[in-house]
Amino acid sequence: MSGASMLTDEEKREIDEELAKYRTKRAAGPEALKIVQKYRGWISDESLRDVARYLELSDEELDSVATCYNFIFRRPVGRHLILLCDSVTCWVVGYEDLRARIEQRLGIQMGQTTPDGRFTLLPAACLGACDRAPVMMIDEQLYVELSPAKVDEILDTYR
Ligand code: FES
Repeated sequence: MSGASMLTDEEKREIDEELAKYRTKRAAGPEALKIVQKYRGWISDESLRDVARYLELSDEELDSVATCYNFIFRRPVGRHLILLCDSVTCWVVGYEDLRARIEQRLGIQMGQTTPDGRFTLLPAACLGACDRAPVMMIDEQLYVELSPAKVDEILDTYR
């Protein structure tokens, strides 16, 4: 089982930069996982093991860290990640309609990935743009003042 998939030099370099900021290797666990996820898309058991070895943690220890963080994915996710804000301001001004439209358009429920691997839909806590609610984020891009029609247009731009 050993060594089949090791961290790349780039992954190691970025993790080392994070390690310098933390007092313990364990504390750097979430950031290390996020770095590997950035390159690999999600954290498979193999990726988890690579990171655990590098941080000198057991797989179980690191996995328990991973499960505390919503945006560390232990299953494959789509090419594009839709984060739909479900905090109070967005909720009040149309979250439910947006969610219904996205689910209907993509044929998935919250938490699922489209069969073609194009999108994963996840709920998000306040994205910090309440004054322009309702809000969603796709990958790194924030979309504000949404309506179901606007969501349709936005989704069409992603392949
Ligand atoms: S409540 Fe949605 S951005 Fe703040």
